[in-house]
Amino acid sequence: MGPPERVTAFAPGRVNLIGEHTDYNGGLALPFAIDAGVTVRASALGERRISALAADFEDERDSFMLGGEAPSPGGWRSFVRGVCAELAAEGLPLRGATLEISGDVPVGAGLSSSAALEVALCLALLALADADVVPPWPLARICSRVENEWVGAQTGLLDQLASICGRDRAAMLIDFHTGVIEPVALQLGAWRLVTLDSGERHEHAGSGYNERRAECEAACAALGIASLHDADAEMISRLPSPLAQRALHVFEENGRVLAAVAALRTNDFEELGALLDASHASLRDLYEVSTAEVEAAVARLKSAGAAGARVLGGGFGGHVLGLMPPDAAAPAGAAEVRPGAGARVLER
Ligand code: GLA
Repeated sequence: MGPPERVTAFAPGRVNLIGEHTDYNGGLALPFAIDAGVTVRASALGERRISALAADFEDERDSFMLGGEAPSPGGWRSFVRGVCAELAAEGLPLRGATLEISGDVPVGAGLSSSAALEVALCLALLALADADVVPPWPLARICSRVENEWVGAQTGLLDQLASICGRDRAAMLIDFHTGVIEPVALQLGAWRLVTLDSGERHEHAGSGYNERRAECEAACAALGIASLHDADAEMISRLPSPLAQRALHVFEENGRVLAAVAALRTNDFEELGALLDASHASLRDLYEVSTAEVEAAVARLKSAGAAGARVLGGGFGGHVLGLMPPDAAAPAGAAEVRPGAGARVLER
């Protein structure tokens, strides 16, 4: 049997339960894939051309020859061109194709629409070329090079790994130092996790995200270590401001991830809520990635009775996350999120 003429791939967005801005610091995170995601339908073309259509962007189109992806045109087109170029740079096979892209993850809203797009594109293009399956870490690295080199966002591997490795009814404990990924049952009984839109959109390339990442690198340089994974409280206390605050957030957030895993294992959802609140306070006060709109959305969740609520993903806008006890009604506009399966080829 030759390669397929047509394939469909799907990759989900993600919610990170806890462990924010730890991924590029060799730390821990606990994300889960959600039901919303990006679908890519690919059909083989007789020439080495990619002809792409973005259904959610009023059917905007892009067309380029494989090998002729540069320069980066901006917007969704940079992702498509970047994925093709980075797959080829990895020595992976590619065929010319028409691509139809559609999705239901809001863009720039902290739910990883970009990782869903990158991963779905990779899976569709690789399946169409009958390529071997690329394991999670190398696949996530290819996608993150697209963010770094083609889109200009110095993001880590959290979103891509969450999208690739998602499982039904589980969050994934990711250790960015050892590379170990372990499912942790996320079954909350009558409790619910909800997201609420702050109304503010971000682009990581233009927000303070890259600056935070540079600050962590500066903290490592000042301490003579390769990663904040190797920093302890005493070392951090020697750093100047604001590097000390940034590093302290990372150090304590890693501890909160482990505490959250323990809380999930003992069904202690009050404790989980307290950890979400502590994470938010740290992201607001030490890491400084909150905004007035994010604070307002967190306050709405808390006044509706959330046991915990916090800024999600990179911050600087987007959705916030809340943990609602059984007897509390989420505020209007909030949507329940549940852990779902990871990225997959749907049809070939
Ligand atoms: C964004 C990035 C991730 C991660 C989070 C913060 O979602 O894409 O790599 O750094 O922010 O935890």
